[in-house]
Amino acid sequence: MICLNKCCDILVVLLSIICLQECTTNLFENIDPQYHLVSEAYSIAKNLFNQGRNNYHRLKSKSLQTIDTFLDLVQIMNEEMARELRSAVVKFYKIRYFHDFTNYVISLEEMIDITEHCLIDPVEKLTQIREQYHAVIKNFEDVRHFDTVNKCHKELPDEVAATHCILHQAVLFNETMQESLVSIVEIKTRQHAQDMNSSLYYVQKCLRDFVPKFFEQLLLDAYTDKCGYLRVVNASIADLVNDKWRNNITVFLEKWSPLVKLLKERYQAPPPQQSLKDPLFLTLFAANLSSVDIFKTLY
Ligand SMILES: *[C@@H]1O[C@H](CO)[C@@H](O)[C@H](O)[C@H]1NC(C)=O
Ligand SMILES: *[C@@H]1O[C@H](CO)[C@@H](O)[C@H](O)[C@H]1NC(C)=O
Ligand SMILES: *[C@@H]1O[C@H](CO)[C@@H](O)[C@H](O)[C@H]1NC(C)=O
Ligand SMILES: *[C@@H]1O[C@H](CO)[C@@H](O)[C@H](O)[C@H]1NC(C)=O
Ligand SMILES: *[C@@H]1O[C@H](CO)[C@@H](O)[C@H](O)[C@H]1NC(C)=O
Repeated sequence: MICLNKCCDILVVLLSIICLQECTTNLFENIDPQYHLVSEAYSIAKNLFNQGRNNYHRLKSKSLQTIDTFLDLVQIMNEEMARELRSAVVKFYKIRYFHDFTNYVISLEEMIDITEHCLIDPVEKLTQIREQYHAVIKNFEDVRHFDTVNKCHKELPDEVAATHCILHQAVLFNETMQESLVSIVEIKTRQHAQDMNSSLYYVQKCLRDFVPKFFEQLLLDAYTDKCGYLRVVNASIADLVNDKWRNNITVFLEKWSPLVKLLKERYQAPPPQQSLKDPLFLTLFAANLSSVDIFKTLY
């Protein structure tokens, strides 16, 4: 008797495992052809479900690619400006000393400390934004389950009721479940673009706070509105914040990724860490940005 009970238990477990597998596959997959409406409805539901899932994945991966492209561009432009700034400071000390307003002489060591202090923020912001954005987007999952269609099986053999049930699920699958993801993508992209912009512009303010007329003394335009690298970032931000993810009208990635690809290739070319040898406008031309865009960006 005890054995029989045990055997029954095992049987029940086995059966439920089999059922679980059956249930996660589809009860309607091999539906009797006599249920024509049901199989139509089933295929509508399946298409809508898959379409939704694909669009969701596509949106996630495109938004990640977009933010990465933007951050890569900023990173390279920022490195160029930082390099110019550091070397201008050192060169300057070969000629003369920095004076603040009260004729206090700032030593080279102090000046290097100040420079590094002011340069740290954009670098930290780049890492922070990349991590945060990836974490947010990866957190979004398509939470719909196609299994809900299987519940309609209990309506059979009433074909109309089963069809009605499946179409009801189809409408739910078709609901704009991308809405919340699209909103997050738009809001976060804008917010990060503006944070990054402020962080780059802050370098200039930070240096001027320590040394008034810093840029004038150095005859340097890095991190100022006159700097081509900063203008490139500024122009790319304008495109980034104008992208309409909701209406699937986006230009940023298509327009700026050739430039980023080109810049990365040049940076990776040996010797490592070389700065861009070509003038910036030549690089922009090579990256297929239109002459109108280049003109607007640099002049
Ligand atoms: C799915 O949504 C589209 C657009 O919102 C609509 O035209 C279509 O009729 C919907 N299909 C179903 C089965 O709800
Ligand atoms: C930065 O972009 C804004 C918005 O597109 C534009 O109005 C401004 O002139 C740009 N500034 C520079 C220095 O390029
Ligand atoms: C970036 O910030 C600067 C300074 O606050 C501002 O003048 C510029 O318009 C901003 N750029 C964009 C594209 O918003
Ligand atoms: C968005 O547009 C691209 C090309 O412009 C297209 O391939 C894609 O299917 C569209 N996505 C949606 C959800 O309409
Ligand atoms: C620019 O466009 C030309 C012609 O369309 C193409 O051959 C080239 O690969 C493009 N360059 C980049 C960097 O995308």
